[in-house]
Amino acid sequence: MAEPTAPAEDLHLAIQVMLLPKDTNAHGTIFGGVILSQIDLAAAVEARRHTAQRVVTVAMREVVFHEPVFVGDVVRFLTRLVRVGKTSITVAVLVEAVRAQDPGCVVKVTEAEVVYVAVDADGHKTPVIRRHADF
Ligand SMILES: CC(C)(COP(=O)(O)OP(=O)(O)OC[C@H]1O[C@@H](n2cnc3c(N)ncnc32)[C@H](O)[C@@H]1OP(=O)(O)O)[C@@H](O)C(=O)NCCC(=O)NCCS
Repeated sequence: MAEPTAPAEDLHLAIQVMLLPKDTNAHGTIFGGVILSQIDLAAAVEARRHTAQRVVTVAMREVVFHEPVFVGDVVRFLTRLVRVGKTSITVAVLVEAVRAQDPGCVVKVTEAEVVYVAVDADGHKTPVIRRHADF
């Protein structure tokens, strides 16, 4: 069972998706790169809650896959703001899978920290202008 890394009230459900056969690797389980892409998207949704600026991904901290994900699982990407720096926003992402065969079975797939940098129109870093959008 998943052990949330933060109080539930700090976590936002950024993305919830059912994965399909197109998302599999050669062994028939879900390809890790699909999950990595969704982690980046989920963290970007969280960053958008805190700034309207354009941001780019500068780092994705260690991602360890603890459990496989299977076709038909519902995968949740839960996000939490970790830090707003001068030009950066750091977001934690917790990934859980709700097993297709047993909706009561929720497993922690992985967790990661993603760092974004606010950039101007020329792609140069720029100080973060904070906001709070409640979505
Ligand atoms: C993002 C980018 C503009 C940063 O420019 P830079 O001059 O190298 O920036 P800095 O090294 O001064 O770091 C800027 C911020 O990012 C943080 N940062 C940079 N590298 C980091 C890393 N590896 N891990 C965590 N934070 C990092 C810094 O701590 C700093 O945060 P702060 O201002 O809040 O204190 C530049 O590296 C870039 O354009 N990278 C490509 C981004 C991109 O295209 N991403 C998509 C890849 S497909």
